[in-house]
Amino acid sequence: MGEHKRIGILTSGGDCAGLNAAIRAVVHSAVNTYGWEVFGIRQATQGLMERPPQAISLTPDKVDPYLTTGGTFLGTTNKGNPFAFPMADGSVCDRSHEIIEGYRMLGLDALIGIGGDGSLAILRRLAQQGGINLVGIPKTIDNDVGVTECSIGFDTAVSVATEAVDRLQFTAASHNRVMILEVMGRDAGHIAMWAGIAGGADIILIPEIPYTLEGICQHIKKRQQQGKNYCLIVVAEAVRTEAGDRVVVAEHPENCRLGGIGQYLSQEICRMIGAETRVTVLGHIQRGGMPSHSDRLIATAFGVAAVELIAKEKYDHVVTWQKRHVVCVPIEEAINQYSTVNPNGTLATTARRMGIFLGS
Ligand code: F6P
Repeated sequence: MGEHKRIGILTSGGDCAGLNAAIRAVVHSAVNTYGWEVFGIRQATQGLMERPPQAISLTPDKVDPYLTTGGTFLGTTNKGNPFAFPMADGSVCDRSHEIIEGYRMLGLDALIGIGGDGSLAILRRLAQQGGINLVGIPKTIDNDVGVTECSIGFDTAVSVATEAVDRLQFTAASHNRVMILEVMGRDAGHIAMWAGIAGGADIILIPEIPYTLEGICQHIKKRQQQGKNYCLIVVAEAVRTEAGDRVVVAEHPENCRLGGIGQYLSQEICRMIGAETRVTVLGHIQRGGMPSHSDRLIATAFGVAAVELIAKEKYDHVVTWQKRHVVCVPIEEAINQYSTVNPNGTLATTARRMGIFLGS
């Protein structure tokens, strides 16, 4: 069974569906297979800054009810970089030493961090500075962590977005409208591309492929000439205006909030061809709700594999999904390989062959 360990687990960055399934798997595997203790740290690294550090003891009985729930019952944050922590007076302060001290105060032997590339980079820096034995689990609806084919949360987000496309089809057709669905994804167009193809969209716009408004309008008119008087557009939030400007809801030094490209397209299409347009911004609905079976499965496999890494004392690694298997890779690789949609890859080619307009 090896030596007894106390391990911590935290979720960091934006929440997504499947996080609780991963926590549950870690607890089951650590407690039942190895007899270790597991502590859930509240509110990402901020729980380690608190005094006393905010952590709760986790047992299989406690975590079992969470398998099918969305969000993270531990809480999370996508703000408050500990190396430049925003203080009340507007200044920033390096509070990394407080987190490292919090880890020591809890008497932890290892820490599992569930996060996207940004969170994993911060956790790794903390681990290197403080000698924390870190193992990572990738999560993000954006699916932009390049070393893994999928990260926790992506499948659920795509399912939700696909359902939205399905629903919009009927109302678009009923009213002869151009319906625009704006989806999340940060700087990557994965959600838009997957949901757009799966839902049978007519136009998919992603940040990786340039577009012209003229091209979009021509495609809508071509459809009209074919007797199809409606059009469904899926647009990723990071798509820029034709002039190349980013469309944001709010600028934030740590975490700029994208949003509004759907409205921009709506106005321009209406101005250029007089089409009746409506916009749906799917927003955080993509992150919330019950995790899909696939997210639960990946999360469970990742949780079990992360515990195995700790048992082997193989730290500074992240678990990934590759060719139907969990494969562990150095965290350094995970944070340096950012994945975007290949403009000439399988999915883009598939979309084009299906007559979906991609902008160019
Ligand atoms: O990274 C995940 C994500 O959902 C992005 O797709 C989106 O741009 C962002 O987080 C939204 O962040 P917030 O929850 O701060 O609005």
